[in-house]
Formats: sequence, C-alpha cells, structure tokens
Amino acid sequence: MPGRGTARTHAGIPFGGAVQAEHFDSDPSYRQAFLDHCDLVMPMNELKFSLLRPNRESWNFEPADRLVDFAIANGRLCRGTTHVWYGATPDWITRLESEREIAAALGEHVERVSDRYRGRVTDWDVCNEVIAHDPASEGPLRDTFWLRRLGPRHIPDAFALAARADPSATLTLNDYDLEFRGSRYDLRRATMLSIVRQMQDRNVPVHRVGLQAHLYLEKEIDVEGLARFGAELKALGVGLVVTELDLIDWQIEGGPAEQDAAAERSVSAFLDGLLDAGRPAAVVAWGITDRYSWISDVMPREDGKPERPLPLDRDYRPKPWYETLRRRLATA
Ligand code: G3I
Repeated sequence: MPGRGTARTHAGIPFGGAVQAEHFDSDPSYRQAFLDHCDLVMPMNELKFSLLRPNRESWNFEPADRLVDFAIANGRLCRGTTHVWYGATPDWITRLESEREIAAALGEHVERVSDRYRGRVTDWDVCNEVIAHDPASEGPLRDTFWLRRLGPRHIPDAFALAARADPSATLTLNDYDLEFRGSRYDLRRATMLSIVRQMQDRNVPVHRVGLQAHLYLEKEIDVEGLARFGAELKALGVGLVVTELDLIDWQIEGGPAEQDAAAERSVSAFLDGLLDAGRPAAVVAWGITDRYSWISDVMPREDGKPERPLPLDRDYRPKPWYETLRRRLATA
C-alpha cells in the first residue's frame, strides 16, 4: 500500500467512488471495496455546507476528516463536493437578513474549508446544480436561495473566493443532465457553456465542468452532442470530470440480465462521447455497491425488483458494465 500523501499513479484515467461515513463505519467490506477498486475516494455528503456547519456556532469536520484521511493515507486522490448547493444550504444562513451577511458567511465557509483541506482535497465542486432543470421555461439559472439573495454573481463570486482561498485547487462547476439527446439537454449544455464563458470574461477561474452522469437507462445518450460539448469546453481551456456516475434502471423491464444489458449500452455510448471529447480528469461513481444508493429511495422500481445502479452488486461482485468501463479508462 503506498504511504501517506503519495497518490497512486496509474496509466489511464483514474476511477473513483463516493463514500458515505455511516456505511464506512458499519461495513468493513464496503470500506475494503474502495481500496480494492478506487484510485480516488471522495466523501459523498460529509463536505456539504449543511453538514460541515449545521449551526452558526458549530462546525462538524470529524466525518469528512475521517474520510479524507482514509483516502490520503491510502494514497488515493480526493475531491470535494460542494460549497454552494441549494440542497445543502444550512437553515441558519437562510435566516440571515442582509445580502452582506450572507455573502460574508459564504466567504468564511469557503475560506475555512478550503484552508483545512488544502493539498488533500485538490478538486472542488464549487457550485452544484446552478442550471435550471428546464432552462427554456425556468431558467437559465435554477431558482435557489443563493440566486434570490445574491443574484447570478454568487457563482463567479464563489469561484473567486475558492481560487483565493486555495490557488492550487482545481475548481469545478458540477451539474446533471448534460449527456442525453433532446432539446432540454441541448439547452442545458448551451447554458453551461454560457456560464463558463461569462466567468472567463470576468477573469474568474473555472477549470472543469463536472458531469454528474446519473444515467437514466431509458434515455438515449447524445454521443455527438456530448463530444461536441467536451470539444467546446476544451477550446475554452476547460476539462471534464465525471462526478456522480450511476445507472437508473427503474424503467427497464426484466431482471438483472436486462438491467445489465441496458447498462452496458448506456455506459458504452456515454464513454464514446466522453472519450471522444478528450480525457476526463477522473470518472467517479456515486457509491460503490448496490447495497447503498440514493436511487432506490428516490426512484424505486414499480415491480419492486432491486435496482442495479453501481459498479458492484450487493455481494460486491463487479458488474459487466463496470469491467467495460475499467478497460476503456485503462486504455484511454
Ligand atoms: O446520516 C443520516 C442518518 O444518521 C439518518 O439515520 C438518516 C435518516 O434519514 O439520514 C442520514 O443522512 C442522509 C444522508 O444522505 C446519508 O445517507 C440524509 O438524510 C440524506 O438527505 C442524504 O442524502 C444525500 C443527498 O445528496 C442530500 O445531501 C444522498 O445520500 C446523496 O446521494 C445525494 O447526492 C446528490 C448529490 O449531492 C447532487 N446530485 C444528486 C445526488 C442525488 O440526489
């Protein structure tokens, strides 16, 4: 096992997984799976604003520290999510009265968190999910507390704060639904490009776009659209990273064989577009085993059969699509 601070170096594109503290503590096989499979290990939830600072008076770094230490002590890369996300905004911030107080609280947060994890968490999702679900009818930006109180400038401001707090960090703008075929997805990609361009026009650093890649298996991947998106970002000097890969098979009829066949098709098409677009910095799965996934809670199957969203099944056996993925990342 490589020692502290020496990230494992592999040929190919690093593969990673997002880890959750509660399972890390209770399930030794889960912990081992990250060591067996991942070049990068990142906390799934523990670095989110509302978990790090649930009250104005108290910070809770312990769960995140443990997971980040686990990654680094075992020579893995680590990345962080996220400073600005409507889904993890602590209540106390929403009760602050003035814009000035809110901006100051965000600044304090980004500074303190960046500082604590400098050199260990080397890539941050600075802002997550700022694009409206349907930019044509609701957008271009998502209606959030941050947008309502600080305006669109909260995005470049957060990136500028993160860059100042840790000039060595890679700064990522992360979002979902950027890989499918259809006008809503075209518009989401165009909106992302426009946000990146506007930040660059203000000389605000944005290094990568994060593709969450929650792949709905009933939807078609727009291979050419994804490749074009990557090429346009590359022309702006911005790379791609896959941040939350998992497979949503709730509409796929049949059992494991049909689910895995649909998974193989979708992952292969996704990789066709992604790898044509250049070389993503990493591909990170949103978990590691089907035992623990948000998908069965949020999008359960009507037939009650178990979903198969993650690289390893419930017994920690690798899926065929995961083997395809690893092969293609290794040779990319
Ligand atoms: O840890 C507590 C546990 O002690 C308690 O018993 C249990 C009761 O509900 O809750 C546990 O916390 C939950 C936590 O996940 C850990 O499992 C929270 O309630 C729950 O809100 C939290 O959900 C996470 C969600 O983001 C909100 O932060 C999911 O795990 C996580 O998969 C999901 O991830 C998001 C990405 O950040 C952004 N993209 C979409 C993705 C899926 O929604």
